[in-house]
Amino acid sequence: MRARIAVLASGRGSNLKAILEYLDGSSGHDSYEVAAVISNKSDAPVLELARSGNIAAFAIDPSTDGEGAELLGLLDRNRIEIVALAGYLKKIPRPVVAAYPGRMLNVHPSLLPAHGGTGMYGIRVHEAVLSIGDSETGVTVHMVDTEYDRGPIVAQWRVPVLPDDDAHSIASRVLAVEHILYPRTIDIVAALYNLRSDN
Ligand code: GRF
Repeated sequence: MRARIAVLASGRGSNLKAILEYLDGSSGHDSYEVAAVISNKSDAPVLELARSGNIAAFAIDPSTDGEGAELLGLLDRNRIEIVALAGYLKKIPRPVVAAYPGRMLNVHPSLLPAHGGTGMYGIRVHEAVLSIGDSETGVTVHMVDTEYDRGPIVAQWRVPVLPDDDAHSIASRVLAVEHILYPRTIDIVAALYNLRSDN
């Protein structure tokens, strides 16, 4: 049995690609499938990536979906059981968070709680790591709540900051780890979900 997941993303979709490659290449890692991809931007490359893999792809307009009724409707109609945010830059409305307790994940490119919260995305995260002089950074997968980057942490992976690093070299080292950690963490959450649903 495979849990149906939706990936929510605003941009290029390298994490979606990593998830799809993981599912394609894995032997026996079949606790989930990507059943839908949803973006807040109709021209986001991640939607094209989804369509090229024959995955249902949708754009929503969060500015007219304050309480998330449209988003929730999409998730319901596509029978989504687990939601994985991957670079989704909008806050998830409370009713949608409430509908997926312990079943909505996010990946963040730092060791939360360091360098998270409003406005902390993209290269800014790594610039903050450098400006503080941290000797390590990393990747965090956490459950989503109604504040950015705040829910319970599910998995973390440390990444060293090297003497010659700039924000871009850190970004690529961290992203490579996201691509390993996120598909596998979703797998564990989905496997637990499937066990519970069997009973
Ligand atoms: C990733 O760095 C992720 O940690 C953050 O947004 C970025 C999304 O990248 N939340 P991509 O679109 O998956 O390439």
